[in-house]
Amino acid sequence: MSFSVFRASLRSPAANPLRRVSQLPKAQFRAKFARNFSSPPPPPAPEAKSSSSGLYLGLGAAAAGGLAYYFYATNSGKEAGTTVKSGVQAAKVQANFVPTKEDYIKVYNKIAQVIDDAGEYDDGSYGPVLLRLAWHSSGTYDKDTNTGGSNYATMRFEPESQHGANAGLNIARNLMEKVKQEFPWISYGDLWTLAGVAAIQEMAGPKIPWRPGRIDGFAAQATPDGRLPDATQGADHLRNIFHRMGFNDQEIVALSGAHALGRCHRDRSGFEGPWTFSPTTLTNDYYRLLFDEKWVWKRWDGPKQLEDKKTKSLMMLPTDYVLVQDKVFKKQAKAYADNQDLFFKDFSNVVSRLFELGVPTSQFVSPEPWVMPTVEEQEAAKEQK
Ligand code: HEM
Repeated sequence: MSFSVFRASLRSPAANPLRRVSQLPKAQFRAKFARNFSSPPPPPAPEAKSSSSGLYLGLGAAAAGGLAYYFYATNSGKEAGTTVKSGVQAAKVQANFVPTKEDYIKVYNKIAQVIDDAGEYDDGSYGPVLLRLAWHSSGTYDKDTNTGGSNYATMRFEPESQHGANAGLNIARNLMEKVKQEFPWISYGDLWTLAGVAAIQEMAGPKIPWRPGRIDGFAAQATPDGRLPDATQGADHLRNIFHRMGFNDQEIVALSGAHALGRCHRDRSGFEGPWTFSPTTLTNDYYRLLFDEKWVWKRWDGPKQLEDKKTKSLMMLPTDYVLVQDKVFKKQAKAYADNQDLFFKDFSNVVSRLFELGVPTSQFVSPEPWVMPTVEEQEAAKEQK
């Protein structure tokens, strides 16, 4: 058993009963955080179409590494936390360093190290919160106006960083800041989506094809609040939100399977608890549990959520439960409950697309996405040499 598999099995509550499966509700629940996942949309604001978008398009043909550098070097003063922090960074910027796939693998490996170095945080992994960052930075996309998505990493700026849906993601952004310092040439959009890829792959999920090319933008390119799903709502809401991004019903169900990972935090979303017994290993358990367990409304002073009748240690959001209430969603959820390979195949395709929302194809460095090797695969390859 390799070290990383061993560590992963230690994290699994089945293998290690010392890892807590559910957290006790916080003793002092601060009323100001007692909100649902997404705050209600503000009055209609003009869509964030930047007057400089022509400039970005014009530059789109250039290599993404160079582009990231261009924006990094010229606009750092306007961006929060992107000032050149060391002589090494400055030297690389000056040399107009153009990164290769090997350089991105180095970033991947650093992210994997950060994911694992979580100590007592949650279930011993930063993977889930990093995946949530990647998804929230991509899921703001609107296909009709072609705004939002992962291109400009606008969650660095207020007010998007303070949107109710993004509560707690400062933890993930701060973690990635450490990686950015070591690899200043990578854009934030590439860094955050690569973190999502690493999180899924290092937590035993499928390969997520990914390619770099996102560029750092400005606060003006941020989208208004209310574009991410509200966990208290039903099937119509889910369809409105995800069809707006360009996803269909089958893809809504596949994307929701990410909730096999991680947990809800009372002081972030108001909800509490994990969806599965192995919140740091990606499986199809989310769907299996939806069908196999009896789910009842939790009696508590928090927002409406369900708990499993048997152990009362697992939870489902109203939007999760919709997957077994809506006829179309239910059929798809059953297919994933019965077949993990099918779930992994569809999840890989849809997440790969999710992370590319809002990025013009001309910006990508490669016509085809890359498949990044896991840390374990890299170790095995070294041993074979
Ligand atoms: C279907 C609509 C969705 C709703 C309503 C929703 C809602 C939520 C809520 C309320 C939380 C808890 C946040 C907290 O308290 O820390 C959460 C966590 C999470 N979500 Fe979703 N989500 C949705 C879709 C997705 C998608 C598409 C993905 C990824 C592809 C995803 C990945 C995650 C992950 C990994 C966590 C755990 C974060 C952690 O452990 O810190 N979610 N989600």
